[in-house]
Amino acid sequence: MGGYVYDQAWEQERERLAGIEADWDPGTIRHLEAVGVAEGWRCLEIGAGAGSIARWLGERVGPTGRVVATDLDIRFVEVLGLSNVEALRHDIVADDPPEGPFDLAHARMLFEHLPERAEALRRAVSTLAPGGWLVVEDLDWSSTGPVVPSEAFSRAVGAVLGLMEKAGYDPFYGRRLLGELEAAGLVEVEGEGRSRILDARSPGVSFYRLSLEAVREPLVSSGALAESDVEAALALFGVPGFRVMTPTLVAAWGRRAEA
Ligand SMILES: C[S@@+](CC[C@H](N)C(=O)[O-])C[C@H]1O[C@@H](n2cnc3c(N)ncnc32)[C@H](O)[C@@H]1O
Repeated sequence: MGGYVYDQAWEQERERLAGIEADWDPGTIRHLEAVGVAEGWRCLEIGAGAGSIARWLGERVGPTGRVVATDLDIRFVEVLGLSNVEALRHDIVADDPPEGPFDLAHARMLFEHLPERAEALRRAVSTLAPGGWLVVEDLDWSSTGPVVPSEAFSRAVGAVLGLMEKAGYDPFYGRRLLGELEAAGLVEVEGEGRSRILDARSPGVSFYRLSLEAVREPLVSSGALAESDVEAALALFGVPGFRVMTPTLVAAWGRRAEA
């Protein structure tokens, strides 16, 4: 058991997820364009979150294409308002795979959270049409840190990762993704990592600030952090000149062999 520790019902969750989109959407779109997503494609967006990539896919594949956008909680994707995007409440670990076949399945910052990530990946692959592409993006925390070393920052990141790891999170899944795609039987597997340098004015910084806020209660009640540690870490985002290098988001892609 375990898995994802963030609650979509939290009042600031939409804003936290929007931070992910601000940081990573341009690179994700570049990778999706590179595998050839085009009009008429059938696409599966797994763990769609706040839905920006489901929306982009819907616009890209047009009226002759189809997008199924899944999540444990579809409150943000069911309001996208595109007739070719279907929001599906679905657990990639426990439920039968969504009905395909798909020319593309994509998941970003999802499998890293799941203790059953190998099975989830196998399910995603099973939805692909022959020749269909899987594009998976997961973080690797090796690159992260403030540009000027900060004890408060390191303590907070260590505590948040510790909480997530107890639930099955793998902070170094990103670097292993290509091997996992090959193990799942995909061919033409390649990958690329990208990292951002953010400051207090970067739109995507809300993801880091709100990720700490979201788990403040369990961190403080378990004694992993004191309230003063949380406040010291949050205050860093208001310090002029404070910059942080993000984890590396590894994108890996491969395709199902033609039958
Ligand atoms: C870190 S967010 C990333 C959201 C989106 N993929 C993005 O990159 O903008 C992870 C998302 O996966 C969803 N999720 C977590 N466990 C899941 C599961 N077992 N099946 C489907 N979705 C899941 C969460 O509800 C959340 O929306």
